[in-house]
Amino acid sequence: MPLSIHCQPLVQTTVDVLLVPVFTEDVSNSGSLNESLPSVGERLSAVLGTAEMMGKSGQLLTLHLTPGLYATRLVLMGVGAADKLTTQTMRESVAAAIRAHGMQGARRFGLLPRWGALPPQSFVQAAVIGAHLATFPVDCYRTEDTRPVQVETLTVVTETADDAIHEGIRRGSILGEAINFARFLVNEPANRMTPTHLAHHAQEMANDVGLQTDILNEDKMRDLGMEALLAVARGSVEEPRLITVRYSPPNGGGRETIGLIGKGITFDTGGISLKPAENMEKMKYDMAGGAAVLGAMRAIAQLKPNLNVIGIVPSCENMPSGKATRPGDVVRTMLGKTVEIINTDAEGRLILCDAMAYARRLGVTCMVDLATLTGAIAVALGLRYAGLFSHHPNMVEELQAAARAADERVWPLPLDDEYRELIKSDIADIKNVGGKYGGSITAAWFLREFAGDVPWAHLDIANMAWNMENKPHLPKGPTGFGVGTLVEFVLARAHAANGTPGS
Ligand code: BES
Ligand code: MN
Ligand code: ZN
Repeated sequence: MPLSIHCQPLVQTTVDVLLVPVFTEDVSNSGSLNESLPSVGERLSAVLGTAEMMGKSGQLLTLHLTPGLYATRLVLMGVGAADKLTTQTMRESVAAAIRAHGMQGARRFGLLPRWGALPPQSFVQAAVIGAHLATFPVDCYRTEDTRPVQVETLTVVTETADDAIHEGIRRGSILGEAINFARFLVNEPANRMTPTHLAHHAQEMANDVGLQTDILNEDKMRDLGMEALLAVARGSVEEPRLITVRYSPPNGGGRETIGLIGKGITFDTGGISLKPAENMEKMKYDMAGGAAVLGAMRAIAQLKPNLNVIGIVPSCENMPSGKATRPGDVVRTMLGKTVEIINTDAEGRLILCDAMAYARRLGVTCMVDLATLTGAIAVALGLRYAGLFSHHPNMVEELQAAARAADERVWPLPLDDEYRELIKSDIADIKNVGGKYGGSITAAWFLREFAGDVPWAHLDIANMAWNMENKPHLPKGPTGFGVGTLVEFVLARAHAANGTPGS
C-alpha cells in the first residue's frame, strides 16, 4: 500500500486527522501544547485533566474541529511522561490512532512532533513504523464489510525539517514496509503460500530491491546430501525450496558474512506424528522465521550496511502420506551427522540443520536462525519474550541489544552441556526430540550440534510471531516479529566492523 510521508508547517496542512502526543505534564501546564495548536486552546483546556485525557499512555481522545482549520479532527494520544517517552509508546500510539480512525475512513494524517525525551529521528522513525503497521490488511480475503485502513499521507507537521527528521522518515518507511512484507507472507493461507510461492515472492522482492537469489529444488538438495530437509518434505506433493537471498554491499563488505536463517514450513500438520485438529489452522505461520529473514533482507538491501549478508530459508510442507517419513527413520544430514527421527512433528530442526550446513558451505562467519520451533517456548516465556539461545556469550549480548533497539523482546535461555544428554540416540548420532522437559532447550541443542565453530544464535519465536488477540495497535494475526532485531543486529555488526552504520 502506498503511504507517502512528508513534512510541512501547520499553516499549510489540511488533514483528516492530526495526531497530537499528550504528555502527563500537559495536564498541569498546557502552555506548549496551546502554542503548537493555535485556535483550539479552549477545546483543549476543557478536556485536559479530565478522566478522558490524563496523558496516560494508551489514552486516545478525538476532538472535532470547526471547518477551515488545519485538521477535521484532532486525536489526542496520551503518551505518558515527556521525559520517559519511548519509541515503543510512539509506535503503538500512532498505530492505534491510525487504526481506529483509518477504519472510519480517514486517509490523510498529520503528526505534531512533540518528542519529549526522544531524539527527533527516533521519534519520527517510531511514528512512521507505527503508521505502516496500522495499514496492514489482516482480513484481505473478506469480500463483505471490509474497511481496510488506508493511509494516503502522514505529514510530520514541522517548520524546520532537518536531516534527522528525513532520516527518521526514510528508516521508518524501510522498516515498516519490511515488517509488513513479512506479515503478508505469514498471513497468506498455506494454499496460497506454498514453498514454490514463497520462493517466487522472495525472488520478486529481491528483484525490487536489488538482491541476488539462488533457489534450490529437490534435485539440488539431494546432490548436496540434505536428507533431513528432504525427510520432512517427502510427505507432501508440494515441492520443497531452499531460498537464498544475498546482499553484497557496494564497497565490498570485508571478510565477514552474516547468515540469517529462517524456518520456512509453509504448513505443519506434524506429519505422521499428526497434530490435534484444534488450532491446526494456525500452522500456516510456521514459516514466520523465514518471512522475518526475507523481510530483514529487504530492509538491509535498502539500508545498505557495509557487510555481506546471506538470508537462507529452507521451505517445505510437513504432511502425512504414504511417502512420509516414519517415526524411527534415520537420515544422514548434509553435515554427515545422522539423526533418528523420533517425532515427525519436530521437523523445524530437521530443515534448519541442513540449512545451517549449507550456510557454512557458503562461508558465513556467523549465523542467526529464527524459527517458530517449539510450543514449549510459550510455556517457558509466555507471550512476551522470544527465546534466545547461543553458545557464544557475545552473540547473546548483541542480539539482546539489537532486540532492544528494535522494540522487540528476547530472553536468554541456557544451553548447558547437561541438556545435550537428552538428545542422544540409541541408534544414530542424535535424535530429534529430547523428551518431556525443557523442549525449547533440547530443540536449540539439536541446532547447536550443527553450528560447529561458527558463532551462532537461535531465536525461538513460536510465541511471538502470531498475535492471538486484537489489541488497539495490533490486530489478531502476524506480527512480523524478528525483522527489526535482525536488521539492528546487522547494522550494529557493520558499524563495529568499519564504523559506518547503514546510510
Ligand atoms: N511448529 C511447531 C511449533 C509451534 C507450536 C509453533 C505452536 C507455533 C505454535 C513445531 O514444529 C512443533 O511441532 N514442535 C513440537 C516439538 C515436539 C514434537 C518435540 C512441539 O512444540 O510440540
Ligand atoms: Mn512440528
Ligand atoms: Zn513446525
